[in-house]
Amino acid sequence: MIEIYEPVVHAIDKQPAVAKIRRKKCSYMKGCTVPKKFAVIGLLALTYWICPASAQQVDPHTLYEQNCAGCHTLHAGEFVYENLDLIDNTLVGKKTGRPVSAFLETGHGGLSPDEIKIMMDHLSSIRQSGRLFHEKCRICHVNAKELARLNLIIRDGILLGRYTGKDIAQFLLNHGRLDTKEAARMVDVLKRQLMTTPTTQN
Ligand code: HEC
Ligand code: HEC
Repeated sequence: MIEIYEPVVHAIDKQPAVAKIRRKKCSYMKGCTVPKKFAVIGLLALTYWICPASAQQVDPHTLYEQNCAGCHTLHAGEFVYENLDLIDNTLVGKKTGRPVSAFLETGHGGLSPDEIKIMMDHLSSIRQSGRLFHEKCRICHVNAKELARLNLIIRDGILLGRYTGKDIAQFLLNHGRLDTKEAARMVDVLKRQLMTTPTTQN
């Protein structure tokens, strides 16, 4: 039992080492990434905790980090800017010119159909944020995910500084050299970081 139990503990700790064993998907739970045998031995409560109940609760950053970062750049943001192009509204690999979705559907990266959808939404949304964060914020902030998850909070649908209580939509009009339209777009980008955090439900 020991060797069966160990990876489960790792999965909870979100150790990178777990990436490999998480490849096999539970067949009966969508968005789940725990090897079958764990489910079979009846750790249902535990697997349920690890396996998000719905695909939306999968953290797309984690999905990238666990399934792609081993071979590609560390963060999805860099991957999009360095390796992908948007051609005719389709994300394609720069080298191959092949649609990313086609890549993933052949099993590249080992994602389930649900996870492919999450990954494609994630990569597209990064692309659509128009390099904005990359160009205007990265000199001072590591990345949008860290910035949002460490410093921001959504209350009644409004993005606020977690510690300052500032209305970020207002704040960004005079911070980071954004025009009004860009500021609004940035609010969406930052909100999305929070809305896709698995532990920030309700
Ligand atoms: C085991 C290593 C490995 C993993 C894991 C992996 N890839 Fe790849 N991927 C490669 C290699 C090797 C290439 C081809 C060489 C290159 O383009 O640098 C490639 C190419 C690609 C390309 C085409 C790039 C281009 O310029 O045309 C895309 C898109 C891609 N991978 C996406 C992903 C995504 C998304 C994931 C995670 C779900 C992933 N890969 C996981 C190794 C991997
Ligand atoms: C020149 C450095 C610099 C740049 C560029 C910059 N920031 Fe900041 N940012 C800071 C500093 C320093 C703070 C903390 C002090 C403060 O609140 O002004 C901060 C704070 C923030 C906060 C937290 C506000 C709060 O109330 O907690 C947000 C959100 C933010 N920045 C977003 C952005 C975005 C988005 C961009 C890009 C458009 C950006 N920043 C560009 C330096 C920068």
